[in-house]
Amino acid sequence: MRQLYPVAGEVDGPEALEELYLLPPGKHLRVVFITSIDGAVELDGRSGSLGGPADRQVFQALRAVSDAVVVGAGTASKENYGPLRLSAGASERRRSRGQPPLPRLVVVSARGAVDRSARWWSSEPPPLVVTTSTGAAALDGAAGEVVVCGEHQVDLVEAVEQMAARELQRVACEGGPHLFRDLLDEGLVDELCLTISPVLAGAGHLHLLGSKPLGPAQRFSLAGLLEGDGMLIARFSVPRNRCVRP
Ligand SMILES: NC(=O)c1ccc[n+]([C@@H]2O[C@H](COP(=O)([O-])OP(=O)(O)OC[C@H]3O[C@@H](n4cnc5c(N)ncnc54)[C@H](OP(=O)(O)O)[C@@H]3O)[C@@H](O)[C@H]2O)c1
Repeated sequence: MRQLYPVAGEVDGPEALEELYLLPPGKHLRVVFITSIDGAVELDGRSGSLGGPADRQVFQALRAVSDAVVVGAGTASKENYGPLRLSAGASERRRSRGQPPLPRLVVVSARGAVDRSARWWSSEPPPLVVTTSTGAAALDGAAGEVVVCGEHQVDLVEAVEQMAARELQRVACEGGPHLFRDLLDEGLVDELCLTISPVLAGAGHLHLLGSKPLGPAQRFSLAGLLEGDGMLIARFSVPRNRCVRP
């Protein structure tokens, strides 16, 4: 894999990739996506066919440096999430940085209508499910830890606080589009790690922010760019004053 920006050079192996994405302790929320050139996040209902080896290495590196991996219930279900896994080397590097061997999986669901037989329930450490009071009633007796943040809608600001209180400060959110847009609405996104796959998907696919409007355009700045397997693997950070009013 080649780094193109901010400096040019080779990025050799998982350890070097983790170094690139490592964050200092403190609250930080990055959102991780792969899209086609025209912004589609799925080709056949799932994202897998957009990806390739380089993107998967970055995806693993992002998990390896994070305290928590957050997904919406839709993504957990459509992408058939299972327990998070890392290589022995990545877990060892986490230990040496003072992190637990695996990040914690956090699933966001307002309704709590999640499949009790989903593979991710057997995550270790147990998954954290962020939901509403209504959702918590639906999740009664579920494995994992259920945290109520809001009555009918999940209060994402509160959810981030609840995670931080559990030492889950460096967060990688792996989508989906609905959750991403809601996090943007709340001003909670610090960084977007976006892989652009050299594919045109055309109409009829779900796009990066789904179909609901975003509000004012939001400006990011390029913080890093890698190339691997013909994919552009970008890292955009959010400046403080990011709203661009028309
Ligand atoms: N290309 C990529 O990198 C990538 C990444 C992720 C997903 N995807 C694709 O995106 C598609 C899924 O999209 P999606 O938008 O439905 O995914 P999503 O955002 O993960 O799922 C939507 C569901 O998640 C829960 N949720 C999301 N935001 C919430 C919020 N603010 N508060 C409370 N609950 C919230 C809700 O669950 P309840 O209904 O249970 O309340 C909602 O119905 C799949 O095709 C998947 O393959 C692609």
